[in-house]
Amino acid sequence: MASFKLLYTTLTLLALLSSSTCSLGYPGFSFGWGHGGGVGGGGGVSHPVGGQRLIGLSPGFYSHSCPQANDIVLSVLERAISKDRRLAASLLRLHFHDCFVQGCDASVLLDDHPTFASEKKSIPNKNSLRGFEVIDEIKAKLEQVCPETVSCADILALAARGSTVLTGGPNWELPLGRRDSKKASLNGSNNNIPPPNSTIQNLVSFFRRQGLNEVDLVSLSGAHTLGMARCTTFKQRLYNQNGHNQPDSTLERNYYHDLKAICPKTGGDNNISPLDLASPATFDNTYFKLIMSGKGLLTSDQVLLSGNLGEPMQLVKDFADDQTLFFNHFARSMIKMGNIRPIIDNKGEVRKNCRRVN
Ligand code: HEM
Ligand SMILES: *[C@@H]1O[C@H](CO)[C@@H](O)[C@H](O)[C@H]1NC(C)=O
Ligand SMILES: *[C@@H]1O[C@H](CO)[C@@H](O)[C@H](O)[C@H]1NC(C)=O
Repeated sequence: MASFKLLYTTLTLLALLSSSTCSLGYPGFSFGWGHGGGVGGGGGVSHPVGGQRLIGLSPGFYSHSCPQANDIVLSVLERAISKDRRLAASLLRLHFHDCFVQGCDASVLLDDHPTFASEKKSIPNKNSLRGFEVIDEIKAKLEQVCPETVSCADILALAARGSTVLTGGPNWELPLGRRDSKKASLNGSNNNIPPPNSTIQNLVSFFRRQGLNEVDLVSLSGAHTLGMARCTTFKQRLYNQNGHNQPDSTLERNYYHDLKAICPKTGGDNNISPLDLASPATFDNTYFKLIMSGKGLLTSDQVLLSGNLGEPMQLVKDFADDQTLFFNHFARSMIKMGNIRPIIDNKGEVRKNCRRVN
C-alpha cells in the first residue's frame, strides 16, 4: 500500500514535470501514427492540405487551449483509483470499447437518445462497463477550467493512459484532438467487440477489421493484467468448452478447480475473478507468465498461446520473459488503437456532457 502511494506521487510528479509534451521515451521506437490518424505534426497547428486546413491528432493539441488537461485527468484518477483500484482497469477498457465501435469518438459514453440506442446496452457492455462516473467528474472539472474545449473522446484516451501509468505501466506521448460523435451504434457494439470465447482466428480478424495486427492483438490483450471478469464470460471453459460437457483441456488443473469454486455450473453468473490472479491491480507482465502456465482466464487469453498461431504464440513467450519489451509494445499499440478513425476538423462536436449530444 505504501509503495503504491509512493508510486503515485513519483508518477504524478513526472507527469506534472513533463506536462502535455511528456516524452518518457522508449529508445529504439519511433511512434507511428497508425492508420486513420490524420496528418500528425506538432502543437495543434493547422496544416494547409490541398487548399483545406486539416488538423490531425497531436500531443500538443491542448497546450494553448487547456494546458492543465492532463493534470486534471490525473488528479481525478488518483483519487478515484485510491478508493477503488479496479477503476483503472475499467477506464482502460472503456477506451477500447469506444475505439472498436465507429472509432475513438466517445460513442460508448452516450445514453439512450430518441434517434439511437446507447451502446451501454450491448451484449459486451451491459452489466459490465464501469467508470462512467469518473469520466463525468473529469468532464465537469474540465468544463470549469476550459469550457467546451476537451472532447470526451480525448478524456477516454487520457484516462486510459493515466490508468496505465498510475498502476505501474508505461507512459507514452498521446496524440490528442479527437472530437465527439453525435450518435452511438448499438449494432456496431454488438458486432465489433470480440467475444471472450473467440478462437485465435476470430481475434485476429476482429483486430484486422480495425487496422490492428497480431502484434497489437497480443500487446493490447496485456491490458488483462488489470481487472476482473464475470463468471458468465468464462463459464463455458469450465463445463462445456466444445459442446461435449468437457472442460477446456488447456486450463491448468488447480486453477480449474479454483475457478469452479467461484463459478458454479448454475447461477453465480455475476461472480467475478481476476484476469491476472497474481496482481490484478498492478500493470505488469504477469498476465503473460500466467498464460505460459495455463492460467489465462478467458479463452481469448489462453488461445494467444494455445491457438498455435506462430506470431502470437512467440509474442506471449517474449512478453512473459521481458516486461520492458511488453511495455514498449503496449504503448505503441495503444497509440495505434487510439488513432482508429478519429473525428477531426470541424466534424462532430465537443460535448459539454459526455452522456449526451449538445
Ligand atoms: C482481445 C480481445 C478481448 C476480449 C475477448 C476481451 C474480453 C473481455 C471480457 C469478457 C472482460 C470481462 C468483462 C466482464 O466480465 O464484465 C474483459 C475485461 C477487461 N478488458 Fe478485455 N477483452 C479483449 C481485449 C481488451 C483490450 C484490447 C483491452 C484494453 C486495451 C482490454 C481491457 C480490459 C480490462 C482492463 C478489463 C477489466 C475491466 C474491469 O475490471 O472493469 N481488453 N475483457
Ligand atoms: C450491424 O453491424 C454489422 C457489422 O458491423 C453489419 O454487417 C450489419 O450490416 C449491421 N446491421 C445493421 C442493421 O446496421
Ligand atoms: C461462444 O458463445 C456464444 C454465446 O454463448 C455461443 O453461441 C458460441 O457458439 C460460442 N462460440 C464458441 C467458438 O464456442
